[in-house]
Amino acid sequence: MKKIILLLLILLSMNSCKEKTTTQTEPTTDNSTWWKEGVLYQIYPQSFKDTNGDGFGDFGGVIEQLDYIESLGVTMVWMNPFFESPLVDNGYDVSDYRAIHPRYGTMEDFQEMLDGLKSRGIKFVLDVVVNHSSNQHEWFKQACSSRDNKYYNYYHWWPAEKGKPPYRHSLFDPEGAWDYNQATNSYYLHTFAEAQPDLNWENPKLRQEVYDIMKFWAEKGVDGFRMDAFQFASKDITFPEWPEGHEKDFIKWYGMRPQLHDYLKEMYKEVIEPYNVFAVAEGSGSTLKDAHDLVDEDRKELQTAYHFEYVDMSRTPVGYKLADFKEVFTRWDKSFAEKGWIAIFLSNHDNARLVNRFGNASPEFRAVSTQMLNTFLLSMRGTPYTYYGDELGMTNIDMPTIEEYVDIEAIGRFKKAQAANADMDEFMEVLNYSSRENARTPMQWNDSVNSGFTIGKPWKKVNENYKEINVEQQDKDPKSVLNHFRSMVKFRNNNKVLVYGDYQLLQAEHPEIYAFTRILDDKKMLVLLNFTNHNSSITLSQLNNINETLINNYETLNIDNDEITLKPYQAVIVSIK
Ligand code: GLC
Ligand code: CA
Repeated sequence: MKKIILLLLILLSMNSCKEKTTTQTEPTTDNSTWWKEGVLYQIYPQSFKDTNGDGFGDFGGVIEQLDYIESLGVTMVWMNPFFESPLVDNGYDVSDYRAIHPRYGTMEDFQEMLDGLKSRGIKFVLDVVVNHSSNQHEWFKQACSSRDNKYYNYYHWWPAEKGKPPYRHSLFDPEGAWDYNQATNSYYLHTFAEAQPDLNWENPKLRQEVYDIMKFWAEKGVDGFRMDAFQFASKDITFPEWPEGHEKDFIKWYGMRPQLHDYLKEMYKEVIEPYNVFAVAEGSGSTLKDAHDLVDEDRKELQTAYHFEYVDMSRTPVGYKLADFKEVFTRWDKSFAEKGWIAIFLSNHDNARLVNRFGNASPEFRAVSTQMLNTFLLSMRGTPYTYYGDELGMTNIDMPTIEEYVDIEAIGRFKKAQAANADMDEFMEVLNYSSRENARTPMQWNDSVNSGFTIGKPWKKVNENYKEINVEQQDKDPKSVLNHFRSMVKFRNNNKVLVYGDYQLLQAEHPEIYAFTRILDDKKMLVLLNFTNHNSSITLSQLNNINETLINNYETLNIDNDEITLKPYQAVIVSIK
């Protein structure tokens, strides 16, 4: 016999996702630090806001939108590179680490932007791209002139008299990671594109240059550093012949050489400690131990890292299984429960949009599913990283033909697939779904031409759904994705249990609902997330002990004793006894 359904109509006053702050004082926790307790917002500067009509976002645009950024409740901003660069990889190829690319503005504009953020209590995290430089950097230009040049050893070389170097996988170049230079009769190494030669971290002079660059920016007031591609910085400089197929697991083979830890300890002493800044590594090696070795406090290396395990699970339109997703997050949380700290993210400039990969981008469900994913992101242990536009539910764009692509990674993948005689229709389908360009479209500010991003011609086409998805419209709507995001950030900022509390997964095998508790002293919260586009139920003893509904992206909660039925992509947080 069917149970009698008790429909608890919980009208959360005006706003369905209104947050409630608890009245009790928060438990205090040792070693609390801003980079653990805050919420980070990532800005891809060329796509955020253009103020001079050249079609590229600029510092002026960030300055203009400081109040908007503050309104999100975020406490840190990480901005992708804006340094002098030939822009082969959109700025991840730096030709002068102390100069700003003119399309973003001047050093004065940078300072104004930084001061504007800081006066609003928002810390600034700089992207440090020092696994490689641009081939247009003065160091590399000089290094290429002769083996006697003092910059020659700032890079990695294979002298041609030893023959051809053993094959080494490149992440962007289908022909491999070595390229020949005539003047020095040697091959230089590039883990990424040909125009991104790897810097030689084994050379103490190069390391000192890097620390000096970091100090330069720390003195300007930067609070933290995001270390780009850092796991590759140190190398086995014998460059041995690797076993066949090693490139499928290239991090294991090329990343995390033992001496990297000596360099990080050195960096900590030189920069991190004296300037009281923090550093987050992009990537965390290939094991949990690797990650701990980078970030555990007593090692005095980096403070935190982000890993790619769950991002890697949805690289094709086939999608992912919720049980696997839960397993990854739970394993990482468990490993970091006592020691170390990690970042939590679901999207960034190197991945397709969050709602397309983990939610449901159809017009019917994109708002609720983004709200659900943002609830997840902001209720896990670890520092949440939100990528610009995900606070609105911005989606992928449709780019079915290769001619539309400008990203070096996409073009490299295309050439590689072609060379391997792959089914190119199938390849394009995957590329269209997964390419990084999906996440680089202009910010959708309003429904005016070019979504209010620029009065000129945008460097990249605006997603055609900007009339339905934009800041102006969502700002007015208390139930919007944007206002849900704001509520969730505020809720996290006010509830340390979501930052530090123990995490316990409930019903790991439930294929549709992700349920977990967060507990810190007497504060207990239960988080319930329906990852599907239909109603789904779960039975949990904790449901008998509900105190109060704190977050809900629907108007109602359907609870019958110890069973709850969640609506499509419903996201709920309740406090429990
Ligand atoms: C990192 C960046 C990516 C860049 C690459 C090379 O993975 O996030 O955007 O292309 O490094 O610098
Ligand atoms: Ca501009």
